[in-house]
Amino acid sequence: MADTLLAMEDVTAGYLGDIDVLRKVSLAVRPGRISGLIGLNGAGKSTLMKTLCGFLRPKSGRVTLAGRDISGKAPHTMIDDGLWYIPQESSLFPYMTVAENLRLALEGRRTQFGEVLEQRYADTLERFPVLKEKLSARAGDLSGGQQKSLEFAKAFMVQPKVCLIDEPSVGLSPRVAAEVFQWIDAFAKSGMGILLVDHNVRRVVAMSDHIYVMSLGEITAEGSPEDFAGDLHAQVREWLGINF
Ligand SMILES: Nc1ncnc2c1ncn2[C@@H]1O[C@H](COP(=O)(O)OP(=O)(O)O)[C@@H](O)[C@H]1O
Ligand SMILES: [Mg+2]
Repeated sequence: MADTLLAMEDVTAGYLGDIDVLRKVSLAVRPGRISGLIGLNGAGKSTLMKTLCGFLRPKSGRVTLAGRDISGKAPHTMIDDGLWYIPQESSLFPYMTVAENLRLALEGRRTQFGEVLEQRYADTLERFPVLKEKLSARAGDLSGGQQKSLEFAKAFMVQPKVCLIDEPSVGLSPRVAAEVFQWIDAFAKSGMGILLVDHNVRRVVAMSDHIYVMSLGEITAEGSPEDFAGDLHAQVREWLGINF
């Protein structure tokens, strides 16, 4: 696709020698669009995200960003390439304050972000007002919902071209989860490309521009939300290979 931003092409990857967790996986993320990825626990969704941002090197196939091969490039360089990852587990430093966590990614790159840092910081606090009251609190002392706000606020500070978001609504109240999905929509509307994994299949299908179904390390179906309309439940069960 001409306007593909981030792509995985025929990637096979795994953690241990000869066990392939991803098998010939191809997938694309486009600017301003949400690619949704659904599949059962253990299907390989998180592994796919880790491979996209360099924690795992593909055994074969490649990962490209804006057409450039970034396969296996060290994860700490991804921010310079415009790639950001919000993992399912926390990426916060629990003993650092909210303010320090927010500023950290850009502070370390003053040559690149020095001029925009203060403005971004002010904009971020406007956008995530719950954090304003908590700037000197330790990140680890925040509630689950506030920690998730801080994760998204960090991404907003960085303003990457592509954001990979793994299971953002896990453990959140329905109210906070709804807010999280609104942030994701807003990110996409601002032009960011999004890869979204969430166990709330209906939500992912409704808000994605393109949906991939993953089963046992392979993409077994893909299409637009319209393709997934109708009896979603039965279709997804079939695609996932659940025969009961
Ligand atoms: N660090 C790891 N080392 C070895 N195997 C792993 C590791 N992380 C995940 N796996 C295995 O990879 C497979 C896919 O896991 P994962 O990508 O977490 O699936 P999902 O995110 O779809 O639930 C599972 O069989 C899991 O046990
Ligand atoms: Mg996972």
